[in-house]
Amino acid sequence: MLTSRPILDRMRRLATWRDPGEALIMDKFVIRGGNPLVGTVRISGAKNSALPAMAAALLTDEPVVLENIPEVRDIQTMRRLLVEMGAEVELEYDRAHKRTTIHCCGPIRPEAPYELVKTMRASTLVLGPLVARTGRARVSLPGGCAIGARPIDLHIKALEHLGASITQDHGYVEARAERLHGGHIVWDRITVTGTEELMMAAALAEGETVMENCAREPEVGDLAALLTTMGARIEGAGTATIRIHGVPRLTGARHHIIPDRISAGTFVVAGAMTGGDLTVAHCDPVHLGALLQKLAEAGVVVQVAGDSVRVTGDGHLLAADVNTEEYPGFPTDMQAQFMALATQADGSSVITENIFENRFMHALEMVRMGANIKIEGRRAVVRGKTPLSGAAVQASDLRASASLVLAALVADGETIIDRVYHIDRGYEHIEEKLRSVGAQVMRIGEMLPRRAALA
Ligand code: EPZ
Repeated sequence: MLTSRPILDRMRRLATWRDPGEALIMDKFVIRGGNPLVGTVRISGAKNSALPAMAAALLTDEPVVLENIPEVRDIQTMRRLLVEMGAEVELEYDRAHKRTTIHCCGPIRPEAPYELVKTMRASTLVLGPLVARTGRARVSLPGGCAIGARPIDLHIKALEHLGASITQDHGYVEARAERLHGGHIVWDRITVTGTEELMMAAALAEGETVMENCAREPEVGDLAALLTTMGARIEGAGTATIRIHGVPRLTGARHHIIPDRISAGTFVVAGAMTGGDLTVAHCDPVHLGALLQKLAEAGVVVQVAGDSVRVTGDGHLLAADVNTEEYPGFPTDMQAQFMALATQADGSSVITENIFENRFMHALEMVRMGANIKIEGRRAVVRGKTPLSGAAVQASDLRASASLVLAALVADGETIIDRVYHIDRGYEHIEEKLRSVGAQVMRIGEMLPRRAALA
């Protein structure tokens, strides 16, 4: 038993997450490892689909209703950004609904301030829709990120291709265009939000846009489905070549966001690592193709039925090499979680990160727990099986924090994970979902006064 009931309840009350505008909450997770996961977890909507879909609402003066919105912090940040611009945004999270209604009917202030963009890079997704709809946009450059430089130079170049005149000063991108025009874009490298942003901008441009070497991620296809319901004319989304015939105006729409394949993948790996019998429901197994194939290679028994994936087993795992690639290859957003699994597999797994240049921060924290991992540039050699022991570790980004939760679930004793605010950005109530299938995990909070109050 982790702690006594009254203390537990008080800590839970303390730890309740609040809007980032209020007190800064340095939550931690305390996890006692060793429990096989048994039961069913339900997957929420995809963060990386909901964010561009919310930005797409800027393209019309009619209401856009998005169903199956995940209850995660990045959605709150996008809501604040849209409200700052003058949009009316309703967010409903209750038993029946997880939806948002966004109405950009009044005058739009086409500016995305640094304060918000620095907390969520995806805020730059508003650049294309703003210049397409209002003829002007002023968006803060996102700056560096824990996992890599992540510039948006290709987004800017592509928008210039559609006729936007773009300047950069004081850390902001300023884009202007009477009306964007169609064009032929060949992406230098595959970019997910780049493809999404230009698809939105081209939807209101004059004439036809053809984009080649596009991202094929399911979230791109989901955004195209929403835009098509809004009256856009798009062909080829989900393939490497997308054709967009611009229209003068877009309408409102109602759209159901696809399930979160990375959240689903994270729970599937949790089931594989801890043994037991876990069903991951309300997901789309097709979107998990590369991961499920890799898990089968690692000796994991996986059964797919409809919108569920069932993982059974005793946690015995075999080493398997992984190369992260663009979709439909093995997703970089599952690399950290798979590394946690590889620490428990017999043999050496070589994990190569091809998308981001600095995405092994979690490895050093796992080594603190007893893992045997050697980093050589973009390659990590993971030797297993090594017993992990509970320790105090620190999350550095969203997926790294998820991998530390997985490592803690199989570690001996208690692990304390600091800075779990990273995980709240993209996982909906992960500790409650894990507890519901037998994990011993608790969130504890440390209340800190607002920075302003300290000044
Ligand atoms: C999206 O980021 C996802 N975010 C990321 O998920 C995901 O890791 C990534 O795609 C790759 O799958 C959202 O959808 C909100 P990219 P994005 O542009 O679009 C380089 C998570 O954990 N590049 O496809 O920003 C870039 O630096 C997050 O949920 C340029 O050089 O990624 C990277 O090395 C993390 N110039 C590569 O391309 C550009 O202008 C691919 O990045 C754009 C990208």
